[in-house]
Amino acid sequence: YNEEDQAGLKAFDWLTKLYHHLLRHTKEGKQGYRYLLERGFSDETIDTFQLGYSPQSRDVIVQFLEKKGFHPQQMVKAGVLTANDQNQISDRFRGRVTFPIRNHLGRSVGFGGRTITDQEPKYLNSPESSLFQKGKLLYNFDVARSAIRKEGQAILFEGYMDVIAAHQAGILNGVATLGTSITEQQASLLKRYVDTVIICYDGDRAGIEASYKAAKLLRHVGCTVKIASIPDGLDPDSYIASYGAERFQHEIIEASSTYMTFLMRYIKKDFNLNLEGDRIQYIEKVIDEIAIISRPMEREHYGKELANEFDLSMDTILQEIRLRREKLG
Ligand code: CTP
Ligand code: MN
Ligand code: MN
Ligand code: MN
Ligand code: MN
Repeated sequence: YNEEDQAGLKAFDWLTKLYHHLLRHTKEGKQGYRYLLERGFSDETIDTFQLGYSPQSRDVIVQFLEKKGFHPQQMVKAGVLTANDQNQISDRFRGRVTFPIRNHLGRSVGFGGRTITDQEPKYLNSPESSLFQKGKLLYNFDVARSAIRKEGQAILFEGYMDVIAAHQAGILNGVATLGTSITEQQASLLKRYVDTVIICYDGDRAGIEASYKAAKLLRHVGCTVKIASIPDGLDPDSYIASYGAERFQHEIIEASSTYMTFLMRYIKKDFNLNLEGDRIQYIEKVIDEIAIISRPMEREHYGKELANEFDLSMDTILQEIRLRREKLG
């Protein structure tokens, strides 16, 4: 770390403690605390993830940092504070619940902040800086790492709320990207620790599209991918809130599907299988995908599934697969 980063790290460290203290023990932080309790988080969870609150008032945070010897203008440069058009310096997370974001060494390098009203945007993140590089960080990776190793699999969530809700439900190997789609760097980081990644994104349209993209990228770096699907457009945290930890573990995580099963379902949504033309196009597309699977056993497995579903002979399917593989060379 260079000098500027050192100062930034110290400031983020102080703020992690301050926001958390304000949330847990002060009147100013009460509304943030109440919000998190209403979301179902326990004191223990709030403490473990050092969740906090930044008060509405303009000066508290700036003055605190000044008292600790940090120069406000430098804090703006380091991405800790923000300045408006009139160069009025303040904390960007005012009125928000704060989530410290730690790097893989466990140091706070930025925050996420969620509104507790229905203000837009719902989430804010610290700005990109040499310390805070969203494309390289995975939320909770430092803590989840040992569970990831132990279980031999990681769970990739969309949001930090999901990671925290899962953790409270006893699922400790969860990580999340920070509001962007997963990058090759993040995928490679996971691959260094684990072979299998369960993608557990939101059950809405956007989540399904993002699962498809994440699956491609994770496979590209050599991971085995499984995909969890959450019904009724719920997300992991709302599913756990509605149905509990037990059902989430058994009906969502353990029931996650293989990449090919997910893919077949994903491709299907573009076709109306009652139409003959669509049916054939769908079958062609699935065979294209089966043909590029490297293991013969898996090719046969999914070939059989397709043959059964459309009442085709296995010979025909295998022949189609062979033709495509010859073309692939
Ligand atoms: N996100 C963001 N900016 C937004 C909305 C979302 O940066 N305006 C990012 C956040 O990192 C968030 C993730 O995208 O954690 C997932 O978004 P979403 O599913 O909308 O958030 P949830 O985790 O479901 O948050 P909540 O349950 O609090 O609504
Ligand atoms: Mn979402
Ligand atoms: Mn590559
Ligand atoms: Mn969500
Ligand atoms: Mn949610």
